[in-house]
Amino acid sequence: MDVLINESRIEKRLDEMAKEIDKAYEGKEIILIGILKGSVVFMVELAKRMKTKVQFEFIEVSSYEGTESTGKVKIVKDIKNSIEGKDVLIVEDIIDTGITLTFLKEYLLLKKPNSLKIATLLSKPSRRIKELDVDYIGFKIEDKFVIGYGLDYNQNYRNLPYIGYVNSEKDLL
Ligand code: IMP
Ligand code: MG
Repeated sequence: MDVLINESRIEKRLDEMAKEIDKAYEGKEIILIGILKGSVVFMVELAKRMKTKVQFEFIEVSSYEGTESTGKVKIVKDIKNSIEGKDVLIVEDIIDTGITLTFLKEYLLLKKPNSLKIATLLSKPSRRIKELDVDYIGFKIEDKFVIGYGLDYNQNYRNLPYIGYVNSEKDLL
């Protein structure tokens, strides 16, 4: 397993992102909607650095099996509270094809938030199938399958404190 982004680089970037978000939402309250389960570590670490008042919501969509996208998205667990008229920030671990976020953005807009933005820890722009505007991006990375800091391979490795990658799936459990 190789390290792509070490812990101190991630922490430094999260400090910057939290500041940028605080500045943009000055005087407001934000509903953070984390996409389960990959966003959990990033969402907690980002929120801890923010001064803006936030509430946590979580949504779960059907996701990848192995390293390939099935291309189909469905809601497995919806948010509990109304977001009508609220300022909402979707929090995601990684944007790959963009299919998940394109779907979720449309879905959440139906709930009539006052604003809806996206923050992601990672983005793989070269893999995009659906173009979408992403407001806050931690790191743009090349097309590698990455794990750690919330990201999994078959549900494992989410607790690694850094972003790692492997060259071959055979190196993973
Ligand atoms: P998208 O719909 O293709 O943008 O896929 C986004 C989802 O795919 C993310 O929330 C991740 O769960 C998963 N994913 C995409 N690339 C990776 C990766 O390199 N490692 C782990 N999960 C990934
Ligand atoms: Mg995910």
